[in-house]
Amino acid sequence: MERREPAIQVKNVRKVYRMGDEEVVALNRINLTIYKGEICCIFGTSGSGKSTLLNQLAGMEKPTRGEVLIQGHCVSRMSEEELAAFRQKYIGFIFQSYNLLPSMTAIENTAMPLMFRGMEKDKREKIAEGLLRKVGLSHRLHHYPGQMSGGQQQRAGIARAFVTRPQVVFADEPTGNLDSRTTADIMKMITGFARKYEQTIILVTHDPGMSRYADRIVTLVDGNIIGDERKR
Ligand SMILES: Nc1ncnc2c1ncn2[C@@H]1O[C@H](COP(=O)(O)OP(=O)(O)OP(=O)(O)O)[C@@H](O)[C@H]1O
Ligand SMILES: [Mg+2]
Repeated sequence: MERREPAIQVKNVRKVYRMGDEEVVALNRINLTIYKGEICCIFGTSGSGKSTLLNQLAGMEKPTRGEVLIQGHCVSRMSEEELAAFRQKYIGFIFQSYNLLPSMTAIENTAMPLMFRGMEKDKREKIAEGLLRKVGLSHRLHHYPGQMSGGQQQRAGIARAFVTRPQVVFADEPTGNLDSRTTADIMKMITGFARKYEQTIILVTHDPGMSRYADRIVTLVDGNIIGDERKR
């Protein structure tokens, strides 16, 4: 296992938020290596630092101390411009609230990351359609987010996250707004894609039930890793 290729390296990451005179230590001193192809669940109760950790991993925020490397690239030192280009190339995101653009249809939303890569419309929509078929949305290609159920919107969200075949996909409570049946369907889709292309998934959740889909469960309490369990 240790000989596997690291996808994400977190080195001595500390994150302190300053609020007036007060300091909030959201992450104390995090060290973590996540390997290529791992489906890693970041588990913890509300306020334990899960989203903060994800934000440092994805380069959304800069750590107060320490560094984060993805595929050997130091995201915690990149400029906004470098980060934007890097994310486009390597990273996919799945959000709890789906974050589809309301003025775009399912197929347009799914194809958007390919548009940023400069791919022409016909080609990118053909690829997007293929993905939407795989997530069971072939009958909703031209629906707008407001015309779809939550579960359908999240299927489109997954299609969008995987459309560029990113090496790493970050998901913060991706099934937080869905029922247990839909959650199972959605999680099988995410893990199915990831296994097929050996993609690395970082899944943030407070739901212990999600651990069944993970290869590894990293547990946070008050900004510290207190558990790191491998299942395969
Ligand atoms: N921008 C911020 N400014 C100040 N404090 C913050 C900020 N973001 C997070 N915190 C604090 O950092 C700690 C960790 O927050 P975080 O959002 O990472 O928790 P979480 O584990 O994702 O919780 P939840 O399950 O509720 O989403 C909390 O105490 C929170 O109040
Ligand atoms: Mg959170």
